Amino acid sequence: MIELYLDTADVSETARFNQCFPLKGVTTNPTIVAKSKVGLTTTLANMTEVLGDTARFHAQVVSKDPHSMLAEAKKLSELPYDMVIKVPATEAGLAAIKLMKQEGIQVLATAIYTVQQGFMAALCGADYLAPYVNRIDAMNGDGVAVVRDLQLLIEKHGLSTKILAASFKNVQQAMDVMKLGIGAITLPVDVAAQMFSHPAIEPAVTQFDKDWSGVFGDKLSFES
Ligand code: G3P
Repeated sequence: MIELYLDTADVSETARFNQCFPLKGVTTNPTIVAKSKVGLTTTLANMTEVLGDTARFHAQVVSKDPHSMLAEAKKLSELPYDMVIKVPATEAGLAAIKLMKQEGIQVLATAIYTVQQGFMAALCGADYLAPYVNRIDAMNGDGVAVVRDLQLLIEKHGLSTKILAASFKNVQQAMDVMKLGIGAITLPVDVAAQMFSHPAIEPAVTQFDKDWSGVFGDKLSFES
């Protein structure tokens, strides 16, 4: 089954969506954590309270050079959670991914804007690739096409890397990439909420209530 994540540091929204979605865990990035004004270690502890101890967390290093990224990744990996370390797929990041994989660290290559960039990260051993679908679209690119090509390359070359598609503005983008058979996706809270919002849903449910109570009043289904 595709792994479904929320792209957030908001613990109460995570609790909300964990009730109605089969969440695998949560992804964050430095911007998301900084906006929340709560440190990563506190957020991970609070997230574990609501998601349970089988949750997987994807958290990003902020170090700049490969060896510092590796040292930071080791510390993050030592946290008592299922941690995947996010590394921007830059020149330094690709070098860091190679080092991290030698140490058996779970790695996600992030900030992926091009097929070639993602493919190199996969060849360096990244366990996950995070192409930024909406950010690519917003630059007059085709985010879904980048994901399609990456998925094709992964399959053609028999790589075990999973695409964890990220950066969405609407459900159409999310559904389009899920149709490609990707291994994982992370949704921002507003796009997650769009999964069950459609102008016809509420009127349909209201009509059921009206028709039922018109004949059976307050009775429940099994009481009728
Ligand atoms: O986690 C990184 C990615 O999800 C970025 O999303 O919405 O800032 O483009 P966004």
